[in-house]
Amino acid sequence: MYLRRLAASTRGFARPASSRAYATANGFTGAIGNTPLIRLRSLSEETGCNILGKAEFQNPGGSVKDRAALYVIRDAEEKGSLKPGGTVVEGTAGNTGIGLAHVCRSKGYKCVIYMPNTQSPEKIDLLRMLGADVRPVPAVAFENPENYNHQARRYAESIPNAVWTNQFDNTANTRAHYETTGPEIWSQTNGAVDGFVCSTGTGGTLAGVARYLREQAEKEGKKVENWLADPPGSVLYSYISSGGKLTERSGGSITEGIGQGRVTDNLGTEIGNISGALHIPDERSIEMLYRLLDEEGLYLGASSSLNVVAAVDLAKKLGPGKTIVTILCDGAYRYQTRLFSRAWLRSKGLENAIPQNLQKYIVLE
Ligand SMILES: Cc1ncc(COP(=O)(O)O)c(C=O)c1O
Repeated sequence: MYLRRLAASTRGFARPASSRAYATANGFTGAIGNTPLIRLRSLSEETGCNILGKAEFQNPGGSVKDRAALYVIRDAEEKGSLKPGGTVVEGTAGNTGIGLAHVCRSKGYKCVIYMPNTQSPEKIDLLRMLGADVRPVPAVAFENPENYNHQARRYAESIPNAVWTNQFDNTANTRAHYETTGPEIWSQTNGAVDGFVCSTGTGGTLAGVARYLREQAEKEGKKVENWLADPPGSVLYSYISSGGKLTERSGGSITEGIGQGRVTDNLGTEIGNISGALHIPDERSIEMLYRLLDEEGLYLGASSSLNVVAAVDLAKKLGPGKTIVTILCDGAYRYQTRLFSRAWLRSKGLENAIPQNLQKYIVLE
């Protein structure tokens, strides 16, 4: 029924484009969530499945991490560890910081962000423009006491009325997706979702959505497969595929905000229920990023295009007629000086991963 309705909705003018106005949102935080689920037409046709992307770039702070930012701050307020005029401190590769900076402005908190100094200049500038105190620090492993997360925790402990929101291991992050993203996907597909796949940074999105979809499907006697997608340099693909062996982290990826060297508490809440993992090389992610722009008009960051590659792979595994959902985490705006620069692509050995007909989009030197 749902598939029939989807098919009808894609047939020319069969269904007039209706304007869905939501009720008025109460401030910035009220506008977080309720994002559209976009059917990716060419990939759906190619696979014979419905490939659906949750348009998280439409959140008011521009990424999926607005949801986690709201929930970790709310959690601190509810526990009484954050009082009016207080300070929110976080270690973040960028998007959580941007979400936190917005939520802090709207609620009157100060915001201090520790981040690895390898992150794109666009994200650092934006955080500063949003009034955050940004502290870029050398990118060192989690085991090192100078890792950005440990520095964030120590700073929060050293000043009064401050909280380290601890996005990686604070399961209020997973709860955001269990209570909002998961239910939205279920209702937007009328419960007709066969597979869900996404990459992980903290693991909050995958854990929360996967748990909700699995529980809901079980209640209705259905089955949803939840898969993890992993970039190069992350240990989770081999961890899941080997049945729990943690290897040393090696290599890197052009994707930002995803890939892990450990199993976070957020991911740990769901890891036993993940059906499998897919390793996605950067060559495929960057090609898909350009294809999504060319074929769908979507201007997305590399974690989103990696997710879409994984959704296509999962569609091929599950077979035609299935509905596969993934996350479109953020837009390319935060990375455009890299992703659309020929010199940068060449420096990463990725210039030739972009097909000839899509090279016209490489407009920056
Ligand atoms: C661009 C981008 N994609 C994906 C993720 C991963 O989301 P999660 O932390 O919920 O695993 C992040 C996290 O920061 C991100 O910034």
